[in-house]
Amino acid sequence: MNYKKIITERIHEHVDMPLENIQVLIEIPPRPDMGDFAFPCFQLAKILKKSPNMIAEELKDKLSNQGFEKIENLGPYLNFFVDKSIFSKNTLEKVLNEGDKYGSSQIGKGKNVVIEYSSPNIAKPFHVGHLFSTSIGNSLYKIMCFQGYNCERVNHLGDWGTQFGKLISAYKRWVNEESLEKEPIKELLRIYVKFHDEAEKDPSLEEEGRMHFKRLEDGCEEEVRLWKRFRDLSLKEFQKVYDMLNVSFDSYAGESFYGDKMNDVIKEIEEKGLLTESNGAKVVMLDEYNMPPCIIKKSDGATIYATRDLAAAMYRKKKYDFYKSIYVVGLEQSLHFKQVFTTLKLMGHDWSKDCKHVGFGLVRFSDRKLSTRKGEVIFLEDLLKESVEKTMEVINSKNPDLIDKEEVAKKVGIGAVIFTYLKNNRERDIVFNWNEMLSFDGETGPYVQYSYARGKSVLRKLGEISGEVDYSKLNTKEEFELVKTLDGFNKAIMNSIDKLEPSIVTRYVIDVAKSFNKFYNHCNIMNAEDKETKKARLRLVKATCQVIKNALKILGIEVVEEM
Ligand code: ARG
Repeated sequence: MNYKKIITERIHEHVDMPLENIQVLIEIPPRPDMGDFAFPCFQLAKILKKSPNMIAEELKDKLSNQGFEKIENLGPYLNFFVDKSIFSKNTLEKVLNEGDKYGSSQIGKGKNVVIEYSSPNIAKPFHVGHLFSTSIGNSLYKIMCFQGYNCERVNHLGDWGTQFGKLISAYKRWVNEESLEKEPIKELLRIYVKFHDEAEKDPSLEEEGRMHFKRLEDGCEEEVRLWKRFRDLSLKEFQKVYDMLNVSFDSYAGESFYGDKMNDVIKEIEEKGLLTESNGAKVVMLDEYNMPPCIIKKSDGATIYATRDLAAAMYRKKKYDFYKSIYVVGLEQSLHFKQVFTTLKLMGHDWSKDCKHVGFGLVRFSDRKLSTRKGEVIFLEDLLKESVEKTMEVINSKNPDLIDKEEVAKKVGIGAVIFTYLKNNRERDIVFNWNEMLSFDGETGPYVQYSYARGKSVLRKLGEISGEVDYSKLNTKEEFELVKTLDGFNKAIMNSIDKLEPSIVTRYVIDVAKSFNKFYNHCNIMNAEDKETKKARLRLVKATCQVIKNALKILGIEVVEEM
C-alpha cells in the first residue's frame, strides 16, 4: 500500500502546495511511538505565514483518518499511525492473490533492453569472474523482465583476436588429440601456456602466430576449420556450466561476429574526421576527456577489442533499438568502456548515453592462492560441484532421511554460490569462504532457502486455511514488522533497477528471512492463543513463502520445499 501517496493526497485537499512537493517531505519517524509516517510543517509555515506547530494542530483536526489508527500532532509534526489490521489485510491478500506475479509491474512495457553478460573467452577457462558476470547479468535479466521490460540476453564471446593465431601455432606443434577430446579447455590452455613459454626462448614463434591470425582473418580453410573446432569444443564446455546454473542466452554473437562489420564503423569514424595517426596506429583522440586514445587499428593494420565493441554497439542499436544497453563486465575494463562510449558520442550517436557499464569487483578464495599466469585456475564446473558436495555433507549430518537429497543439494549448493556473488554491492571484492557461504545461519543462500522450507513445513503440517481471516490478530511487533517487509518488495526491485544492482533484492530477501525467523521464534503458530490467531499467522507464513520464492527466482535461485 502506498501510504505516502494517501497522506499526500489527504494533505493536498487542505493546503495549496503541489503534490510532489508534499510527497518529498514525508518522513519515516525514528521511533515506532512516533508513528509510521510523519509530515513536518516547516515548509507550509513559510507559505501560510503561521507557526508550524499551529499548522500541524489545525491540519490534524481537518484530515480524515480513514485507514489510520490515529493521526497525532507533536509540535511541528503530524504523525500518522497506520491501521495495522487494514494494512496487514491489504498486503497479505495482495501477495496471495498475485502469487508468482507479486512484486512485478509493467513499467518496462515497450522498452527494449540489451543485457550482455558472461562473455567467456573460447579456449580459456570459464573463470570465477565470468561467473560473477553471469550471476549479475542473469538476475538483472530476470528482474527487468519481471517489470515488463523486453530483454535480449547477449553472450559476447571472446572468440576473435591475435591469440587464436598463437593457439593455431601451438596446436600444430604440441596438441595431444586424445586430451583435446577429453578435456578440451585444459588441453587448449596447456598448449597456449606452452606457446608463451617457448616464445620467450624463440621469438619467431610470435611471428608465426601473427601469420596464422592473418590467414584466419583472410578466411583460409585450415585456420578457419581449427578455430571453429576450438569454438565448438569450448561452447560445449561452457554449456555444462550454464546448464548447472540454469542460464541461457538469446544470442551468442561474440567478437568474431563483428569481423565483417568493422569496416563500416571505421569508415564512419574517418568520415566524421575523428581518425588520427599515432605511432603508425589509427586512433580516436580523447584528450579533452582526460583519457588515452581509443585505438581503432593497430600499426600492423589489425583491428582490436575496442573496434569490435564499437561495431557491436552500433549493431545492437540497429537490431534491438534499445532503451538501455547493459554491459556486465569487471571493473578492470571501466576505462575501455568509457573510451568506447565516448567515441560513440563523438561520432554523434546520442544513444551512447544509454549504454551502461555494470562493473563488478574481484574474486578471491580464502583457502587458496592462484596464479593465472602459471595456468593455475579454478574451473567453474569444479567449483559448483564442490559446493554441491559440501552441501550434501551438511544435509547428511542434519537431515539424512530427506527425500530427493541430490536435487536439494544441487539447488542449495549452486544457490549458495550465486547468492554469495549477489549479496553485496557488486563493486566490492568477494572472498569465497566455504564455511561462511554454506552456513544455514548468517546472511547466506542456505539460510534464506531454509527459512522458506521451514515455512512450507509449517503449512504442510497445519494444512490450508480457508475463509475470512481476522487480521487484527497480527498485533505483535514481530508480525507487523514482517508484514511491512513483505510490502516493500516492489520498492526494492525498483531501487535495484535504478542502480542496476541485484544486491538490493538479495539484501531484501535476507531481511524477509530475518523478519520471518524473528516472528517464528516469537509467535507460536502451532499452539497460538486461539484459532483465529493461528489462522492469521498461517496466512502470514504463506505470504512470506511466496515472497521469498519470488525474490529468489529473480536472483536466479530455486527454492526447495524441504531441506
Ligand atoms: N571476453 C571478455 C573477458 O573475458 C569480456 C567481454 C566483455 N564485453 C565486451 N563487450 N567487451 O574479459
